[in-house]
Amino acid sequence: MKKMTISTLVKQKQNGDKITALTAYDASFAKLFDEQNVDVLLIGDSLGMVLQGQDSTLPVTTAEVAYHTRSVAAGVNAAFVIADMPFMSYSTPAQAYENAGQLMAAGASMVKLEGGAWLCETITGLKQRGVPVCGHLGLTPQSVNVFGGFKVQGREDDKARQLIEDALALEAAGAQMLVLECVPTKLGKAVTDQLSIPVIGIGAGVHTDGQILVMHDMFGVSANYMPKFSKNYLAETGDLRKAVALYIEQVKNGQFPGPEHSFDK
Ligand code: KIV
Ligand code: NA
Repeated sequence: MKKMTISTLVKQKQNGDKITALTAYDASFAKLFDEQNVDVLLIGDSLGMVLQGQDSTLPVTTAEVAYHTRSVAAGVNAAFVIADMPFMSYSTPAQAYENAGQLMAAGASMVKLEGGAWLCETITGLKQRGVPVCGHLGLTPQSVNVFGGFKVQGREDDKARQLIEDALALEAAGAQMLVLECVPTKLGKAVTDQLSIPVIGIGAGVHTDGQILVMHDMFGVSANYMPKFSKNYLAETGDLRKAVALYIEQVKNGQFPGPEHSFDK
């Protein structure tokens, strides 16, 4: 398969060809996912939870994400590689440039930041310096202590309106992709319809341009628990490669996520 780029992913949105994404943290799984033609691999700061056994993503460092990004990049042939910027690694634009540079040098093709309009200056500056940015709205796990737990976001009308405004602001600032986590299906659709950049959902309903799952959730081996929006594809198939292939097939044909993996309100 040809190397995926941001242009390919934008075309997929325009053509209604669903984008498939998984997290990955090492070369072997990155290669396995790549061979099944997953479009996007994310080195998520979820590694703090699924690899390190911490109870949040907050302790993860840029050096740790860079380490795993080097491993993933070594295993990838075609997939588009995004690396998460950890908690407090992009508090100021200058800090973001420094840390994003580490992740791009480690092999990422894009970095992901959590937050709304306050990030606009940082996003514009990163793009000007050659760093493409993916935004992340909804349940942004680095803000778990502000939310008071891992909770569905954007349920109230004013919160939903605010989230749409933030999404539009991120796009206007130069963000080239958006992850939308744990929001009602209706809001997932509204954001996807209003943006021209690809919107990748996790617990955001079936209408987003693509879906992402944490690999440990997809294989049912997460240290903690199984989120409602996730699905154990290994239990269903009994084989790692078949599990990934079925996930891709069900995202492509709109079978995943079903209503049981989505939030109505
Ligand atoms: O860290 C992560 O794995 C993520 C995805 C769940 C989107 O941010
Ligand atoms: Na993350």
